[in-house]
Amino acid sequence: MPAFMEPFRIKAVEPIPFPTAAERRRALGDAGFNLFRVPARAITIDLLTDSGTSAMSSAQWAALLDGDESYAGARSYERFEAVVRELTGYEQVIPVHQGRAAERILLGRLLRPGDVSVANTHFDTTRASVEAAGATAVDLPSEEPAPAPFGGDISVPALRRLLEGPDGAGVRCVVLTVTNNAGGGQPVSLDNVAAARELCTAHGVALLLDASRFAENAYLITERDPAHAGRAPRDVAREVFALADGCWASLKKDGIANIGGLIALRDPELARRCRDHLIAVEGFPTYGGLAGRDLDALAQGLREVTEPAYLRYRAQTARWFGDRLAEAGLPVLQPTGCHAVYVDAAQLLPHVPAHQFPATALANELYLAGAVRVTELGTLVFGRPDPAGGDDLPAPRELVRFCLPRRVYTKSHLEYVAETAATVVAKAAEIPGYRVVEQTGSLRHFTAVLAPTSPRGPAGPGEPPPRARTNGPPAPR
Ligand SMILES: Cc1ncc(COP(=O)(O)O)c(C=O)c1O
Repeated sequence: MPAFMEPFRIKAVEPIPFPTAAERRRALGDAGFNLFRVPARAITIDLLTDSGTSAMSSAQWAALLDGDESYAGARSYERFEAVVRELTGYEQVIPVHQGRAAERILLGRLLRPGDVSVANTHFDTTRASVEAAGATAVDLPSEEPAPAPFGGDISVPALRRLLEGPDGAGVRCVVLTVTNNAGGGQPVSLDNVAAARELCTAHGVALLLDASRFAENAYLITERDPAHAGRAPRDVAREVFALADGCWASLKKDGIANIGGLIALRDPELARRCRDHLIAVEGFPTYGGLAGRDLDALAQGLREVTEPAYLRYRAQTARWFGDRLAEAGLPVLQPTGCHAVYVDAAQLLPHVPAHQFPATALANELYLAGAVRVTELGTLVFGRPDPAGGDDLPAPRELVRFCLPRRVYTKSHLEYVAETAATVVAKAAEIPGYRVVEQTGSLRHFTAVLAPTSPRGPAGPGEPPPRARTNGPPAPR
Protein backbone atom coordinates (compact mmCIF):
# COMPACT_ATOMS: atom_id res chain seq x y z
CA MET A 1 0.00 0.00 0.00
CA PRO A 2 1.49 3.38 -0.89
CA ALA A 3 1.53 5.93 1.94
CA PHE A 4 -0.80 7.99 -0.23
CA MET A 5 -1.95 8.19 -3.80
CA GLU A 6 -3.44 10.82 -6.09
CA PRO A 7 -7.22 10.90 -5.43
CA PHE A 8 -8.07 11.23 -9.15
CA ARG A 9 -7.38 9.46 -12.41
CA ILE A 10 -6.14 11.08 -15.59
CA LYS A 11 -8.52 11.79 -18.46
CA ALA A 12 -6.50 14.06 -20.75
CA VAL A 13 -2.72 14.15 -21.08
CA GLU A 14 -0.16 16.59 -22.42
CA PRO A 15 3.36 15.55 -23.54
CA ILE A 16 6.28 17.15 -21.73
CA PRO A 17 9.56 18.27 -23.37
CA PHE A 18 12.95 16.70 -22.64
CA PRO A 19 15.61 19.21 -23.75
CA THR A 20 19.18 17.93 -23.92
CA ALA A 21 21.94 19.35 -21.68
CA ALA A 22 23.16 21.55 -24.55
CA GLU A 23 19.62 22.83 -25.19
CA ARG A 24 19.14 23.59 -21.50
CA ARG A 25 22.39 25.52 -21.36
CA ARG A 26 21.47 27.51 -24.44
CA ALA A 27 17.95 28.20 -23.21
CA LEU A 28 19.18 29.50 -19.85
CA GLY A 29 21.86 31.70 -21.44
CA ASP A 30 19.37 33.08 -23.99
CA ALA A 31 17.03 33.82 -21.05
CA GLY A 32 19.64 35.98 -19.30
CA PHE A 33 19.92 33.31 -16.55
CA ASN A 34 16.39 34.17 -15.43
CA LEU A 35 14.04 31.18 -15.31
CA PHE A 36 10.99 33.43 -15.85
CA ARG A 37 12.37 34.12 -19.33
CA VAL A 38 12.88 30.45 -20.29
CA PRO A 39 10.14 29.24 -22.67
CA ALA A 40 7.89 26.43 -21.39
CA ARG A 41 8.90 24.30 -24.39
CA ALA A 42 12.33 23.98 -22.75
CA ILE A 43 11.01 22.81 -19.35
CA THR A 44 10.54 19.18 -18.31
CA ILE A 45 8.98 19.62 -14.85
CA ASP A 46 7.60 23.09 -14.15
CA LEU A 47 7.42 23.85 -10.42
CA LEU A 48 7.73 27.61 -10.94
CA THR A 49 4.31 28.30 -9.48
CA ASP A 50 1.05 26.75 -8.36
CA SER A 51 -0.72 29.81 -9.78
CA GLY A 52 -2.96 29.22 -12.78
CA THR A 53 -1.22 25.91 -13.47
CA SER A 54 -3.88 23.57 -12.04
CA ALA A 55 -5.59 20.75 -13.90
CA MET A 56 -9.34 21.28 -13.91
CA SER A 57 -11.74 18.48 -13.05
CA SER A 58 -14.22 16.98 -15.52
CA ALA A 59 -16.93 18.84 -13.57
CA GLN A 60 -15.12 22.14 -14.16
CA TRP A 61 -14.74 21.44 -17.88
CA ALA A 62 -18.45 20.63 -17.99
CA ALA A 63 -19.24 23.87 -16.13
CA LEU A 64 -17.42 25.86 -18.84
CA LEU A 65 -20.12 24.92 -21.33
CA ASP A 66 -22.73 26.51 -19.08
CA GLY A 67 -20.91 29.85 -19.19
CA ASP A 68 -23.25 32.77 -19.78
CA GLU A 69 -21.36 35.37 -21.79
CA SER A 70 -23.88 38.20 -21.30
CA TYR A 71 -22.04 41.46 -20.72
CA ALA A 72 -24.12 42.44 -17.70
CA GLY A 73 -25.84 40.36 -15.04
CA ALA A 74 -24.79 36.98 -16.43
CA ARG A 75 -26.07 33.81 -14.75
CA SER A 76 -22.41 32.78 -14.41
CA TYR A 77 -21.88 35.75 -12.10
CA GLU A 78 -24.90 34.78 -9.99
CA ARG A 79 -23.53 31.24 -9.58
CA PHE A 80 -20.06 32.58 -8.67
CA GLU A 81 -21.50 35.12 -6.25
CA ALA A 82 -23.62 32.46 -4.52
CA VAL A 83 -20.64 30.16 -3.96
CA VAL A 84 -18.42 32.99 -2.68
CA ARG A 85 -21.13 34.27 -0.33
CA GLU A 86 -21.78 30.77 1.03
CA LEU A 87 -18.05 30.27 1.61
CA THR A 88 -17.00 33.66 2.96
CA GLY A 89 -20.15 35.16 4.40
CA TYR A 90 -19.29 38.47 2.65
CA GLU A 91 -22.19 40.08 0.78
CA GLN A 92 -20.15 42.15 -1.66
CA VAL A 93 -18.57 39.92 -4.30
CA ILE A 94 -16.45 41.42 -7.07
CA PRO A 95 -14.71 39.23 -9.66
CA VAL A 96 -11.39 40.33 -11.16
CA HIS A 97 -9.06 38.70 -13.65
CA GLN A 98 -6.36 37.77 -11.09
CA GLY A 99 -5.07 38.48 -7.61
CA ARG A 100 -2.95 41.52 -8.29
CA ALA A 101 -5.88 43.30 -9.94
CA ALA A 102 -7.82 42.74 -6.72
CA GLU A 103 -4.93 44.10 -4.67
CA ARG A 104 -4.47 47.15 -6.88
CA ILE A 105 -8.20 47.96 -6.85
CA LEU A 106 -8.91 47.30 -3.17
CA LEU A 107 -5.71 48.65 -1.61
CA GLY A 108 -5.79 51.62 -3.98
CA ARG A 109 -9.28 52.54 -2.65
CA LEU A 110 -8.46 51.84 1.00
CA LEU A 111 -4.98 53.29 1.48
CA ARG A 112 -3.95 56.94 1.33
CA PRO A 113 -0.42 58.33 0.94
CA GLY A 114 1.39 58.02 4.28
CA ASP A 115 -0.78 55.12 5.53
CA VAL A 116 0.69 51.87 6.80
CA SER A 117 -0.40 48.36 5.84
CA VAL A 118 0.78 45.67 8.28
CA ALA A 119 0.92 41.97 7.39
CA ASN A 120 2.28 38.61 8.46
CA THR A 121 4.11 39.02 5.14
CA HIS A 122 2.96 41.04 2.13
CA PHE A 123 3.37 38.97 -1.01
CA ASP A 124 5.49 40.80 -3.61
CA THR A 125 2.53 41.96 -5.71
CA THR A 126 0.70 43.03 -2.54
CA ARG A 127 3.66 45.11 -1.44
CA ALA A 128 3.79 46.67 -4.91
CA SER A 129 0.10 47.69 -4.63
CA VAL A 130 0.59 49.15 -1.14
CA GLU A 131 3.54 51.19 -2.35
CA ALA A 132 1.69 52.27 -5.53
CA ALA A 133 -0.94 53.80 -3.20
CA GLY A 134 1.81 55.85 -1.53
CA ALA A 135 1.57 53.78 1.65
CA THR A 136 4.18 51.72 3.51
CA ALA A 137 4.09 47.93 3.84
CA VAL A 138 5.32 46.60 7.18
CA ASP A 139 5.86 42.86 7.68
CA LEU A 140 5.57 41.44 11.19
CA PRO A 141 6.06 37.68 10.72
CA SER A 142 5.85 35.25 13.60
CA GLU A 143 8.89 35.20 15.85
CA GLU A 144 8.31 31.55 16.81
CA PRO A 145 11.49 29.57 16.12
CA ALA A 146 11.14 27.04 13.27
CA PRO A 147 9.79 24.44 13.03
CA ALA A 148 6.56 25.93 14.33
CA PRO A 149 3.14 24.49 13.43
CA PHE A 150 1.84 27.97 12.57
CA GLY A 151 4.92 29.68 11.16
CA GLY A 152 2.62 31.85 8.99
CA ASP A 153 1.20 33.75 11.97
CA ILE A 154 1.56 37.48 12.39
CA SER A 155 3.54 38.44 15.50
CA VAL A 156 0.82 39.54 17.90
CA PRO A 157 3.23 41.24 20.37
CA ALA A 158 4.84 43.22 17.52
CA LEU A 159 1.43 44.15 16.08
CA ARG A 160 0.26 45.32 19.51
CA ARG A 161 3.42 47.40 19.98
CA LEU A 162 2.95 49.03 16.59
CA LEU A 163 -0.74 49.78 17.08
CA GLU A 164 -0.24 51.14 20.59
CA GLY A 165 2.92 53.08 19.69
CA PRO A 166 3.39 56.52 18.11
CA ASP A 167 2.94 55.14 14.53
CA GLY A 168 -0.25 53.25 15.40
CA ALA A 169 -2.57 55.98 14.13
CA GLY A 170 -1.16 55.58 10.60
CA VAL A 171 -2.09 51.91 10.33
CA ARG A 172 -5.04 51.55 7.92
CA CYS A 173 -5.21 47.77 7.55
CA VAL A 174 -3.83 44.50 8.84
CA VAL A 175 -3.44 41.82 6.17
CA LEU A 176 -3.15 38.11 6.89
CA THR A 177 -1.84 36.17 3.92
CA VAL A 178 -3.25 32.64 4.31
CA THR A 179 -1.17 30.59 3.84
CA ASN A 180 1.90 32.78 4.11
CA ASN A 181 3.44 32.23 0.67
CA ALA A 182 6.50 34.46 1.06
CA GLY A 183 7.03 33.17 4.59
CA GLY A 184 7.55 29.53 3.59
CA GLY A 185 3.92 28.56 2.79
CA GLN A 186 3.13 28.14 6.46
CA PRO A 187 -0.42 28.38 7.81
CA VAL A 188 -1.94 31.04 10.02
CA SER A 189 -3.74 29.64 13.08
CA LEU A 190 -7.34 30.41 13.97
CA ASP A 191 -6.11 31.76 17.32
CA ASN A 192 -3.81 34.16 15.47
CA VAL A 193 -6.65 35.42 13.25
CA ALA A 194 -8.78 35.90 16.38
CA ALA A 195 -6.00 37.81 18.17
CA ALA A 196 -5.47 40.06 15.14
CA ARG A 197 -9.27 40.64 15.03
CA GLU A 198 -9.27 41.77 18.63
CA LEU A 199 -6.43 44.23 18.09
CA CYS A 200 -7.97 45.57 14.86
CA THR A 201 -11.32 46.11 16.56
CA ALA A 202 -9.67 47.88 19.51
CA HIS A 203 -7.79 50.23 17.18
CA GLY A 204 -10.44 50.72 14.46
CA VAL A 205 -8.30 49.09 11.78
CA ALA A 206 -9.59 46.87 8.94
CA LEU A 207 -8.60 43.19 9.02
CA LEU A 208 -8.24 41.76 5.52
CA LEU A 209 -7.26 38.32 4.26
CA ASP A 210 -5.18 37.53 1.23
CA ALA A 211 -7.18 34.33 0.88
CA SER A 212 -5.45 32.92 -2.20
CA ARG A 213 -4.80 29.62 -0.37
CA PHE A 214 -7.67 29.72 2.13
CA ALA A 215 -8.54 26.02 1.75
CA GLU A 216 -4.98 24.79 2.28
CA ASN A 217 -4.72 27.05 5.32
CA ALA A 218 -7.97 25.65 6.73
CA TYR A 219 -6.83 22.06 6.16
CA LEU A 220 -3.51 22.68 7.90
CA ILE A 221 -5.41 24.12 10.89
CA THR A 222 -7.32 20.83 11.15
CA GLU A 223 -4.02 18.89 10.98
CA ARG A 224 -1.96 21.00 13.35
CA ASP A 225 -4.31 22.41 15.97
CA PRO A 226 -5.78 19.64 18.17
CA ALA A 227 -8.68 21.97 19.02
CA HIS A 228 -9.82 21.73 15.38
CA ALA A 229 -8.84 18.13 14.54
CA GLY A 230 -11.46 16.27 12.54
CA ARG A 231 -13.38 19.40 11.54
CA ALA A 232 -14.47 19.93 7.94
CA PRO A 233 -11.93 22.26 6.26
CA ARG A 234 -14.80 24.26 4.74
CA ASP A 235 -16.20 25.03 8.21
CA VAL A 236 -12.77 26.12 9.44
CA ALA A 237 -12.35 28.33 6.35
CA ARG A 238 -15.75 29.93 7.05
CA GLU A 239 -14.67 30.65 10.62
CA VAL A 240 -11.50 32.36 9.39
CA PHE A 241 -13.48 34.49 6.92
CA ALA A 242 -15.99 35.37 9.66
CA LEU A 243 -13.24 37.00 11.72
CA ALA A 244 -12.15 39.41 8.95
CA ASP A 245 -13.74 42.44 7.30
CA GLY A 246 -13.11 41.16 3.83
CA CYS A 247 -10.63 39.49 1.55
CA TRP A 248 -9.08 39.37 -1.83
CA ALA A 249 -7.77 36.26 -3.52
CA SER A 250 -5.92 35.06 -6.53
CA LEU A 251 -8.29 32.26 -7.56
CA LYS A 252 -5.51 30.86 -9.75
CA LYS A 253 -4.60 28.96 -6.58
CA ASP A 254 -7.47 27.60 -4.49
CA GLY A 255 -10.03 28.36 -7.23
CA ILE A 256 -8.28 25.42 -9.03
CA ALA A 257 -8.66 27.27 -12.33
CA ASN A 258 -6.26 28.88 -14.76
CA ILE A 259 -7.39 32.48 -14.32
CA GLY A 260 -9.45 34.54 -11.89
CA GLY A 261 -9.51 36.52 -8.70
CA LEU A 262 -11.93 38.22 -6.37
CA ILE A 263 -12.59 40.94 -3.85
CA ALA A 264 -15.22 40.10 -1.21
CA LEU A 265 -16.19 42.60 1.46
CA ARG A 266 -18.71 43.44 4.15
CA ASP A 267 -18.52 47.21 3.63
CA PRO A 268 -20.90 48.23 0.79
CA GLU A 269 -19.35 51.70 0.49
CA LEU A 270 -15.80 50.38 0.02
CA ALA A 271 -17.22 47.82 -2.44
CA ARG A 272 -18.94 50.63 -4.37
CA ARG A 273 -15.63 52.47 -4.71
CA CYS A 274 -13.93 49.26 -5.85
CA ARG A 275 -16.66 48.60 -8.45
CA ASP A 276 -16.43 52.17 -9.79
CA HIS A 277 -12.72 51.73 -10.32
CA LEU A 278 -13.16 48.17 -11.63
CA ILE A 279 -15.28 49.48 -14.49
CA ALA A 280 -12.39 51.71 -15.57
CA VAL A 281 -9.67 49.06 -15.38
CA GLU A 282 -11.15 45.53 -15.53
CA GLY A 283 -14.69 45.51 -16.93
CA PHE A 284 -18.30 45.48 -15.82
CA PRO A 285 -18.70 44.41 -12.16
CA THR A 286 -20.44 41.13 -13.02
CA TYR A 287 -17.51 39.78 -15.06
CA GLY A 288 -14.47 41.75 -13.88
CA GLY A 289 -12.16 40.91 -16.76
CA LEU A 290 -13.18 37.24 -16.93
CA ALA A 291 -15.33 35.28 -19.36
CA GLY A 292 -18.64 33.95 -18.00
CA ARG A 293 -17.28 30.42 -18.43
CA ASP A 294 -14.28 31.25 -16.21
CA LEU A 295 -16.68 32.25 -13.43
CA ASP A 296 -18.45 28.89 -13.75
CA ALA A 297 -15.16 26.95 -13.63
CA LEU A 298 -14.20 28.96 -10.54
CA ALA A 299 -17.54 28.38 -8.82
CA GLN A 300 -17.07 24.62 -9.29
CA GLY A 301 -13.39 24.81 -8.24
CA LEU A 302 -14.33 26.68 -5.05
CA ARG A 303 -16.69 23.82 -4.20
CA GLU A 304 -14.11 21.08 -4.89
CA VAL A 305 -11.15 22.70 -3.19
CA THR A 306 -12.34 22.05 0.36
CA GLU A 307 -12.90 18.30 -0.16
CA PRO A 308 -10.96 16.60 2.66
CA ALA A 309 -9.52 13.81 0.42
CA TYR A 310 -8.13 16.37 -2.00
CA LEU A 311 -6.61 18.56 0.74
CA ARG A 312 -5.15 15.53 2.55
CA TYR A 313 -3.46 14.53 -0.73
CA ARG A 314 -2.05 18.06 -1.13
CA ALA A 315 -0.48 18.01 2.33
CA GLN A 316 0.75 14.43 1.97
CA THR A 317 2.34 15.17 -1.42
CA ALA A 318 4.26 18.14 -0.02
CA ARG A 319 5.40 16.11 2.99
CA TRP A 320 6.50 13.12 0.88
CA PHE A 321 8.24 15.35 -1.69
CA GLY A 322 9.97 17.33 1.09
CA ASP A 323 11.31 14.05 2.51
CA ARG A 324 12.64 13.01 -0.94
CA LEU A 325 14.38 16.39 -1.41
CA ALA A 326 15.86 16.16 2.10
CA GLU A 327 17.15 12.67 1.29
CA ALA A 328 18.73 14.18 -1.82
CA GLY A 329 20.65 16.50 0.51
CA LEU A 330 18.68 19.76 0.20
CA PRO A 331 18.04 21.75 3.40
CA VAL A 332 14.22 21.54 3.39
CA LEU A 333 12.18 23.90 5.58
CA GLN A 334 10.02 21.93 8.01
CA PRO A 335 7.18 21.42 8.42
CA THR A 336 6.11 21.47 4.77
CA GLY A 337 2.80 23.14 3.94
CA CYS A 338 0.60 22.25 0.96
CA HIS A 339 1.43 24.30 -2.11
CA ALA A 340 5.22 24.10 -2.16
CA VAL A 341 8.38 22.79 -0.59
CA TYR A 342 10.91 25.45 0.39
CA VAL A 343 14.65 24.93 0.50
CA ASP A 344 17.27 27.09 2.20
CA ALA A 345 19.76 27.92 -0.55
CA ALA A 346 22.04 29.91 1.78
CA GLN A 347 22.66 26.77 3.81
CA LEU A 348 23.48 24.71 0.73
CA LEU A 349 25.67 27.38 -0.89
CA PRO A 350 27.52 29.14 1.96
CA HIS A 351 30.18 30.31 -0.54
CA VAL A 352 27.61 32.46 -2.43
CA PRO A 353 26.90 35.73 -0.56
CA ALA A 354 23.35 37.15 -0.52
CA HIS A 355 24.18 39.88 -3.06
CA GLN A 356 25.20 37.12 -5.48
CA PHE A 357 21.75 35.51 -5.19
CA PRO A 358 22.29 31.99 -3.79
CA ALA A 359 18.63 31.10 -4.35
CA THR A 360 18.89 32.07 -8.03
CA ALA A 361 22.12 30.07 -8.26
CA LEU A 362 20.44 26.92 -6.93
CA ALA A 363 17.34 27.37 -9.09
CA ASN A 364 19.43 27.81 -12.25
CA GLU A 365 21.50 24.74 -11.45
CA LEU A 366 18.35 22.61 -11.11
CA TYR A 367 17.36 23.78 -14.56
CA LEU A 368 20.75 22.98 -16.06
CA ALA A 369 20.74 19.57 -14.41
CA GLY A 370 17.31 18.35 -15.49
CA ALA A 371 15.14 21.11 -17.00
CA VAL A 372 13.35 21.47 -13.65
CA ARG A 373 12.02 24.99 -13.10
CA VAL A 374 11.60 26.36 -9.56
CA THR A 375 11.35 29.88 -8.11
CA GLU A 376 13.85 32.01 -6.26
CA LEU A 377 12.42 33.73 -3.19
CA GLY A 378 15.57 35.38 -1.96
CA THR A 379 17.44 38.61 -2.54
CA LEU A 380 16.42 38.91 -6.20
CA VAL A 381 12.73 39.01 -5.14
CA PHE A 382 12.85 40.53 -1.67
CA GLY A 383 16.21 42.33 -1.54
CA ARG A 384 16.50 46.03 -2.15
CA PRO A 385 19.10 48.08 -4.01
CA ASP A 386 21.35 49.87 -1.51
CA PRO A 387 20.50 53.62 -1.58
CA ALA A 388 24.23 54.29 -1.06
CA GLY A 389 25.03 52.33 -4.25
CA GLY A 390 26.68 49.32 -2.56
CA ASP A 391 25.66 45.66 -2.67
CA ASP A 392 21.91 44.87 -2.58
CA LEU A 393 20.38 44.83 0.88
CA PRO A 394 19.72 41.13 1.45
CA ALA A 395 16.34 39.43 1.91
CA PRO A 396 15.77 37.87 5.33
CA ARG A 397 16.10 34.37 3.80
CA GLU A 398 17.41 32.81 0.61
CA LEU A 399 14.66 30.37 -0.26
CA VAL A 400 14.01 28.28 -3.34
CA ARG A 401 10.40 27.26 -3.79
CA PHE A 402 9.40 23.98 -5.45
CA CYS A 403 5.74 24.70 -6.16
CA LEU A 404 3.18 21.96 -6.64
CA PRO A 405 0.61 22.72 -9.36
CA ARG A 406 -2.73 21.23 -8.34
CA ARG A 407 -3.51 17.73 -9.73
CA VAL A 408 -0.82 18.03 -12.43
CA TYR A 409 2.26 15.98 -11.52
CA THR A 410 2.39 12.43 -10.17
CA LYS A 411 4.79 10.91 -7.67
CA SER A 412 7.11 9.68 -10.45
CA HIS A 413 7.47 13.23 -11.80
CA LEU A 414 8.47 14.37 -8.33
CA GLU A 415 10.88 11.44 -7.93
CA TYR A 416 12.63 12.70 -11.06
CA VAL A 417 12.95 16.15 -9.46
CA ALA A 418 14.48 14.63 -6.32
CA GLU A 419 17.00 12.67 -8.43
CA THR A 420 17.88 15.87 -10.28
CA ALA A 421 18.35 17.64 -6.94
CA ALA A 422 20.76 14.94 -5.74
CA THR A 423 23.05 15.59 -8.71
CA VAL A 424 23.04 19.32 -7.95
CA VAL A 425 23.83 18.75 -4.28
CA ALA A 426 26.82 16.58 -5.27
CA LYS A 427 28.52 19.59 -6.88
CA ALA A 428 27.14 22.35 -4.66
CA ALA A 429 30.61 23.76 -3.91
CA GLU A 430 31.16 24.54 -7.62
CA ILE A 431 27.90 26.44 -8.18
CA PRO A 432 28.58 30.09 -9.07
CA GLY A 433 26.75 33.16 -7.83
CA TYR A 434 25.08 35.69 -10.14
CA ARG A 435 25.14 39.44 -10.72
CA VAL A 436 22.41 41.63 -12.21
CA VAL A 437 23.13 42.96 -15.69
CA GLU A 438 19.76 44.67 -16.27
CA GLN A 439 16.79 45.25 -13.95
CA THR A 440 13.64 47.29 -13.52
CA GLY A 441 12.73 49.09 -10.27
CA SER A 442 9.80 47.08 -8.98
CA LEU A 443 9.21 43.30 -9.32
CA ARG A 444 12.62 43.03 -11.01
CA HIS A 445 12.81 39.25 -10.74
CA PHE A 446 10.28 38.74 -13.54
CA THR A 447 12.45 40.38 -16.18
CA ALA A 448 16.00 40.91 -14.81
CA VAL A 449 18.97 39.80 -16.92
CA LEU A 450 21.74 38.11 -14.91
CA ALA A 451 25.18 36.64 -15.49
CA PRO A 452 27.23 34.12 -13.50
CA THR A 453 29.90 35.77 -11.34
CA SER A 454 32.52 33.27 -12.45
CA PRO A 455 32.91 32.10 -16.02
CA ARG A 456 31.73 28.58 -16.68
CA GLY A 457 34.15 26.06 -18.23
CA PRO A 458 33.63 24.81 -21.76
CA ALA A 459 30.73 22.65 -20.59
CA GLY A 460 29.84 24.72 -17.52
CA PRO A 461 30.74 23.62 -13.99
CA GLY A 462 30.10 19.92 -13.66
CA GLU A 463 28.05 19.70 -16.83
CA PRO A 464 28.51 16.58 -18.92
CA PRO A 465 29.08 16.90 -22.66
CA PRO A 466 25.78 17.55 -24.45
CA ARG A 467 23.85 14.40 -25.24
CA ALA A 468 21.77 13.80 -28.32
CA ARG A 469 18.86 12.36 -26.35
CA THR A 470 15.59 13.83 -27.58
CA ASN A 471 12.96 11.20 -27.03
CA GLY A 472 12.95 10.44 -23.35
CA PRO A 473 13.66 11.85 -19.94
CA PRO A 474 17.28 12.93 -19.48
CA ALA A 475 19.03 11.05 -16.72
CA PRO A 476 19.50 13.76 -14.10
CA ARG A 477 23.11 14.71 -13.59
C1 LIG B 1 -0.28 35.15 -1.54
C2 LIG B 1 -0.45 35.74 -2.91
N1 LIG B 1 -1.12 36.89 -3.06
C3 LIG B 1 -1.30 37.43 -4.27
C4 LIG B 1 -0.78 36.86 -5.41
C5 LIG B 1 -0.98 37.53 -6.75
O1 LIG B 1 -1.92 36.82 -7.50
P1 LIG B 1 -1.93 36.80 -9.10
O2 LIG B 1 -0.69 36.09 -9.54
O3 LIG B 1 -3.18 36.07 -9.46
O4 LIG B 1 -1.95 38.21 -9.58
C6 LIG B 1 -0.06 35.67 -5.31
C7 LIG B 1 0.51 35.05 -6.51
O5 LIG B 1 1.32 34.16 -6.49
C8 LIG B 1 0.10 35.09 -4.01
O6 LIG B 1 0.77 33.93 -3.83
